[in-house]
Amino acid sequence: MLNDSWPLPHAIAYGGDYNPEQWPREVWDDDVALMRQAGVNLVSVGIFSWALLEPEEGVFDFGWLDELLDLLHANGIAVDLATPSVSPPAWFFAAYPQAQVRNADGVTMGFGSRGMASHASPEYRAAIVRVADALARRYGQHPAVVLWHVHNEYGVPVGEDFSEQSVRSWRQWLQQRYGTLAALNEAWGTAFWGQWYHHWEHVVAPATTPTTINPAMKLDWARFTDDQLRECFRLERDAIRAHAPQPITTNFMAHQSWNTDLWKWAQEVDIVSDDHYLWSPDPEAHVALALSADLTRSVAGGRPWILMEHSTSAVNWQGRNIAKEPGEMQRNALTHVGRGADAIMFFQWRASRSGAEKFHSAMLPHAGPSSRVFREVTELGSQLKQLGELQDSRVRAEVAVLYDWESLWAQDLQWRPSDDLQFRERMRTFYERLWRDGVPVDFAHPGDDLSGYRLVVAPASYLLTTADAANLTSYVRTGGTLLVSCFAAAVDSHDAVHAGGFGAPLADALGVRVEEYRPLRAGSTCTVAFGEHTLEADVWTEDLVLDGAEVLGRYGSPAKGGATAGAPAITRHRAGEGTGWYVSTRLGLDALAPVLEAVYADAGIVPADHPEGVELMTRHGQNHDYVIAVNHRDEEVTVAMDGTNILTGDRLGGELRLSAGRVAVVRTVASLRVPTPDHPQLISTQ
Ligand code: GLA
Repeated sequence: MLNDSWPLPHAIAYGGDYNPEQWPREVWDDDVALMRQAGVNLVSVGIFSWALLEPEEGVFDFGWLDELLDLLHANGIAVDLATPSVSPPAWFFAAYPQAQVRNADGVTMGFGSRGMASHASPEYRAAIVRVADALARRYGQHPAVVLWHVHNEYGVPVGEDFSEQSVRSWRQWLQQRYGTLAALNEAWGTAFWGQWYHHWEHVVAPATTPTTINPAMKLDWARFTDDQLRECFRLERDAIRAHAPQPITTNFMAHQSWNTDLWKWAQEVDIVSDDHYLWSPDPEAHVALALSADLTRSVAGGRPWILMEHSTSAVNWQGRNIAKEPGEMQRNALTHVGRGADAIMFFQWRASRSGAEKFHSAMLPHAGPSSRVFREVTELGSQLKQLGELQDSRVRAEVAVLYDWESLWAQDLQWRPSDDLQFRERMRTFYERLWRDGVPVDFAHPGDDLSGYRLVVAPASYLLTTADAANLTSYVRTGGTLLVSCFAAAVDSHDAVHAGGFGAPLADALGVRVEEYRPLRAGSTCTVAFGEHTLEADVWTEDLVLDGAEVLGRYGSPAKGGATAGAPAITRHRAGEGTGWYVSTRLGLDALAPVLEAVYADAGIVPADHPEGVELMTRHGQNHDYVIAVNHRDEEVTVAMDGTNILTGDRLGGELRLSAGRVAVVRTVASLRVPTPDHPQLISTQ
């Protein structure tokens, strides 16, 4: 249940994970002095401290934590107090070996890492409640504690668990979901390959099998895994809530998560928080960062959110861990702010000398306070201090991009028409097109109320329930513009092909049905004639049957196996008051440009007019709007803008000059907000 109580009123929170238990006591005083120097006002404490807090079962030692919280409080540094449930102590596994996780191959995950406990284990559940309860009783009234941080990144490194207890819980979960075996057999389509179940105790978990496993079973397993994790979160949260008034969060991983359906998780936390790390092989990793930040804000319902972790420079867990360029950390951090984050935190405060993450960057690196990274950390701290007035200002978007974790889970199952058509790739490419066009977006679930958006884009809606398709259809019929990408509405919530064929539930909105998928061979391309443009496409084509739609793009040069030349590729359909567009092939960034231009025109969206490589984000406050401008280019740029650059104090005389790689935060006069006749509920910022 999201609430609006921000832990640090009128301030952007700044800090990181703090693991002082790895250091002698005298280092703590240096830490706190340097934190003050860097402008740190919030640290996350205790994430991996279970073995210290409870050295023996039921015996707690809070001495060190008492001292630490008092020290931080005396220095004006607030605490995000964690529960340590991601890393149970050695004694726990010695006492309860049955609580270890088993993987799909039946291998038990041993001690010596983290995240090794089975979320289904009653012993684990009892132990995490005991620790959360003890922490909340002891620190619920401590003045340093402003936030609770339950667990760490649910679902990694381990989400799925094939232990005996987990399989027992799975059967109970299925009994609750389906009631009868007949219903389960029906939902899973067990008539196929003779998989009928006649006894509940014969129902298995989708462990390693000789060939492809029942996809409906696997999809339910993903839901079950997500539910198990969330049950554990709720147990800890409720134990804390009984004794502590502060808001409670857990750190998500937005677009990088797989096991967690964040639309559901966001309903369980008081404040949404997210971790984000750049993926080094991605030359445009800042676009993935923007996507992740927009997705996080969207699951938070537009409310302020916490960037709980990112890195000051390199991480240590990729094949090649690339250090950030000077200024890159600031660009990353302020992009998160521009997209709604009101807290900028890092993993971690001080780099660890030992253990698996010693090559990971930190706010205070091994090179110490005279390093470039620490200087930049201090500079960022003082900049964020100037941005307190942005707290609780909001981002607005006229476009919603549909994102559904269930569709991701389903599309990632085996034996699709082509391995080359991927949920994450489609999401990224459509998002990047909108990003390059300077069109702000929210993400939304296909079942959400979409009436406030001029345009809804569905890059990867492979799984779409008939109810959600009806929601999209009524969105179009009442005046919305919908753009749907290929392989949409293929299956229902059991991964069964929709009655009526591929895409049938959207036929009314799109005026088209799909007769056959015609994916292309690796490396093959085809063209689409779209107005005066010849668009290049790859990976995927479809044979469409028109049912009222007009054809705006036709397949040109055919690829072997693909749709035939002259066949419809891109369609547009007037349905009721609105318009439904369908793109039946895989278009890249450039090919999407003219298509989106035409779609924007239908939707009444005006793309931003700004230099390429400059990212402009607006947050709307009570009295002012704030434009966060990030220059990703290697040269100075000029952007038309009025207002005051808060970071430099400069008043702009109609233009902002931004040198290579720099960021500005400009306070402008709040724009006029007039509801438009087409969308009375829509706020226009023209
Ligand atoms: C994750 C974890 C942290 C740390 C970082 C390293 O986000 O939550 O504990 O391991 O990765 O990048």
